Order: sequence, then C-alpha cells, then structure tokens
Amino acid sequence: MRVSRLFGRTLRAAPAEAEHAGHQLVLRAGLARQIQAGSFALLPLGMAALRRIEAIMHEELAAIDGQEFRTPIVQAATSWQRSGRYADYGPLMLRAEDRSGRALVIAPTHEEAVAELAAHEITSYRQLPQIIYQIHTKYRDEGRAKGGLMRLREFTMLDAYSLGADTASLDQAYEALAGAFTRIFARCGLDVVAVEASAGEMGGGEPREYMALSASGEDTLVLCDACGYAANSEVAERTASDGCVRCNAPLRLARGVEIGHIFKLGTRFSQALGANYLGVDGAEHPIVMGSYGIGLERMLQIIVEQHADAQGIAWPQAVAPLDVQLLRLGQGEDVRAAAEAAYADLCSAGLRVLYDDREETAGVKFNDADLLGLPLRVVISERLLKLGQVELKRRGGAAHTVAREQLVAAALQPT
Ligand SMILES: Nc1ncnc2c1ncn2[C@@H]1O[C@H](COP(=O)(O)OP(=O)(O)O)[C@@H](O)[C@H]1O
Ligand SMILES: [Mg+2]
Ligand SMILES: [Zn+2]
Repeated sequence: MRVSRLFGRTLRAAPAEAEHAGHQLVLRAGLARQIQAGSFALLPLGMAALRRIEAIMHEELAAIDGQEFRTPIVQAATSWQRSGRYADYGPLMLRAEDRSGRALVIAPTHEEAVAELAAHEITSYRQLPQIIYQIHTKYRDEGRAKGGLMRLREFTMLDAYSLGADTASLDQAYEALAGAFTRIFARCGLDVVAVEASAGEMGGGEPREYMALSASGEDTLVLCDACGYAANSEVAERTASDGCVRCNAPLRLARGVEIGHIFKLGTRFSQALGANYLGVDGAEHPIVMGSYGIGLERMLQIIVEQHADAQGIAWPQAVAPLDVQLLRLGQGEDVRAAAEAAYADLCSAGLRVLYDDREETAGVKFNDADLLGLPLRVVISERLLKLGQVELKRRGGAAHTVAREQLVAAALQPT
C-alpha cells in the first residue's frame, strides 16, 4: 500500500472532543472517522487491524469446535415478545416497522434468534453440545454514545452461544469459551482481568466480565495483588479500605472498561422459544444455553491505548494493520528507484508494507511513521544509499543500518 494512495489521512492534532488517549490516536492515525454521534466508519488501516483481530477470534473459536453462523439483524418483534425482552430491554433497543406495519427489532444481541434456530435444528441429545458464533453488527440506541469507539450505537460483536443438554455441559462450554476469550485477549496484546459481574437484563448465573485496565474506563475495579481476586466495585460493594474477601490483603482500586462478557443463561430463552431436545430418557427437555460476547471496535481502541507512547501507536505485531512502514527520503532518481525496489522485495517476501512515497519532508514522514506505529520502520535515504545501506528500526527500539542486499533478511528476523 502506498501512502500517496491511502484512503484516510493522519491528523496532526486530535479534535477537541477526543478526551482520552485511545480515542485521540484512533482519529489521529486515521483508523476511524465519526459519521454521526455513535456511528463511526472504519478506514482501511482500522479495518485491517480489525480483520486481524477477527482472524485470531476465528482461530480460537475453531480450536474449541465453534462453528460460524449468522443471524439477521432486522428481526420480527415476535420472538422478543415471547422472551419478554420486547418490553424489558428498554430504550437501548431500536424498533422499526416494515411497510405492512409489522413491528421489527434492530437486534442488540441474538439470544432469541439462537433459541429460535435451535428449536428448528436441534431435535435430539445426539446433536448436543454445540458452540456457534458470529462476528457481526449489533445496534444499541445508546443514550450517550461517546469516547470514540468505546460506546457506539452500531458496533461489531463476536457473539458466541453454547447449547447443551444439562448444566454440566453448560459448565464445560463456559470454561471452553472463557479459555478462548483469555487466549484472544492475550494474542491481541490486551491487558485484561476477569471479574465477577452483575447479570443485568440477561439473567443467568456466574456472569463474568473481562475488563481492560484503562484510564478512560467507566467502571471501578477492586483488585487484590496478593491472590488475584478482582471484582467490579458495583458487585463487590467494597472499597480499597476493606480487605480482600478471599485473602484479606489490601485491595487496590483501578479504572476499567468492559471488553467481554460471558453468561450462563440456563433455560430462560429455550423455554420461552420452545428450544427443546429429546433426551436419552425419551422425554423433551429445554436446551441449556450460554452466551458470550466481545466488542471489536472497543477492543481495537483499547489495544491502541494500551500500546502507545508520546509519539503514537506501537502496535502489537499480531494485530498491526501492516508489518512495515517504508520511508523514502529524498527526491532523486536513484533513491526513488531504490525505494521502489525495496518495496517490491519486501512485498515479495510476504511482508505487508505501507510505502511512504509522498513528496513530503523527512520530518512529516517520520512523524507519521511514529504515529501509525507499524512494528518495523525501514528508511531508504540518499545519504545511506551512497554507503550502500538501508536503515531498520523496530517501533520503540533503536535504529540500525544493514547493507541494501540484507534488507529482506533483516526485515524478516523475528523481534
Ligand atoms: N455501545 C457499545 N459500543 C461498543 N461496544 C459495545 C457496546 N456495548 C457493548 N459493547 C461490547 O460488547 C460486549 C458485550 O456486550 P454486553 O455485555 O451485552 O453489553 P453491556 O455490558 O453494555 O450490556 C461488551 O463487553 C463490549 O465490548
Ligand atoms: Mg456487558
Ligand atoms: Zn486476595
């Protein structure tokens, strides 16, 4: 990708409405742009990072035998009326009507759709257990959409659902999904703690939230450094001056943002929507469900916030939108040819390269490279070219030079 052709531009300064570091970087680096309050367009660099997060999610879900599926976003109100949530969900649910006056829901989540599907597809205990998931759009009519990608009206969620014959099977699925979520966060470079949470309108047992430590967080967490106990202060009803419930050590307060949430739903939705299976005993039983969600745009912004310095983003390798930022410094024929050759060589070696081919000053190019924060920066300059050299620098590391012929080998070296 050539910077001169890139759709989406960097900003020298963040707009005033961006209060927190993650929000500012998302805008300054050109990852996303606000279209209207609570609705953002993802620009190519933001989309590329999101796709890498998705790829990690697909791998980890496949590893626990999760199967990808997809439900419609615009749904008839009837299944929501049957579950009781048409009335209970509250103002977050966006409602609509079709041309014949039929009531519709723009789905904020998909437990009803999954229970309806399960009622069709699952007949016997032999088909259980199942884990199904999608990575798709959710809509919630948030009263105060703010903080950039933190609280959106339209956002992407990994939502997974487990279907089992009994509570033992639900417990197993819950642990499998919890493990997958933990691996997803670790691979994406996110610092996250799992906390006890409240179930809210979902009901069900053992809700667990995955909270990213973040100065921009709206929640207060109580953490025990001695035994690892962590809880949302809403739930724990404790302050730092109380001791840890488990080990009595002093507690620490920290701000956090919810990135993921997992619930044991039990049979609430399957009973409401008639999702039953025929058991070994020959009798009908309700399917025992679990529900598991992660917000992708929010996760993207928190990754950026947790991996940044004064100059800009320092992407974790696994989710960086591209691998290399290649800078051409100078306008001469020789340096242009050398930079084009380096671009072709790095791409042929399988690296994803952002090539800064613009007629800009070295200062502008260095600043943008630090702001975008790809894992490796390569400089082709007139001065180095005379010495037969190119410069490499890992984001956050020191610059060093290698002979031109060694560029690809040096770029491919693991960090
Ligand atoms: N308005 C939003 N904007 C961005 N991400 C959201 C929003 N609401 C929820 N999410 C993401 O989806 C995940 C699962 O959502 P859920 O637990 O159902 O939401 P909530 O806790 O807001 O009721 C959250 O952990 C969060 O990462
Ligand atoms: Mg939640
Ligand atoms: Zn403790």
